[in-house]
Amino acid sequence: MKFFLDTANIEEIEELIPTGFVDGVTTNPSLIAKNGDDMAKTIKSICSIVSGPVSAEVTATDYETMLKEGEYLASFAKNVAVKVPLTFNGLKACKALREKNIMVNVTLCFSEAQALLAAKAGATFISPFVGRLDDIGEKGTDLIKNIVVMYKNYNFKTEVLVASVRSVEHLIESSLMGADVATLPPKVIHELYNHPLTDKGLKAFLDDWSKTGQSILPK
Ligand code: E4P
Repeated sequence: MKFFLDTANIEEIEELIPTGFVDGVTTNPSLIAKNGDDMAKTIKSICSIVSGPVSAEVTATDYETMLKEGEYLASFAKNVAVKVPLTFNGLKACKALREKNIMVNVTLCFSEAQALLAAKAGATFISPFVGRLDDIGEKGTDLIKNIVVMYKNYNFKTEVLVASVRSVEHLIESSLMGADVATLPPKVIHELYNHPLTDKGLKAFLDDWSKTGQSILPK
């Protein structure tokens, strides 16, 4: 399973790159606004430090401007994946951008029908939002399960990119269902490695080690 970072903050990305589990990055207009810096500068900086796909989202809603914005965003770097919303115009833009060999991430997916259309439009990634479905009382990861099955049934190449991830449980459930990618806020990444038995075990090892009076590196 690939991990993308769901942030537009360079420091957060830089901190996690040495771990080896940053396979890409996703941004959206809200994350760019939260980060506060110029959009083009931010996307170019991220692309210069991350070799995997970096999603940058169009903000137009009409087809022609979406296409122009998509081509412009793709000109920033080879690894830009243009994000388009799951609307009729977004799906048309997806098809046109894919024909130009530009990666496309179709975002704001909340149903199986939407996911089928994105695959038929040739999307590189489909982004179902699990957390926002949970927010309205549905079980977001049920959508992941169904999309994975549907795509397998027809051998669609579109990768299932789990978005709006709020918890470790979202990630684990999605990985058991066979999702290809999860985009994770750095906060969730830092929740993944914590376990009370790790802390307890480490403390016991270090206590015992200190009693030996030894040091691993020669003094
Ligand atoms: C990523 O592609 C999405 O834009 C993001 O995961 C949305 O997350 P949110 O629902 O927490 O805003």
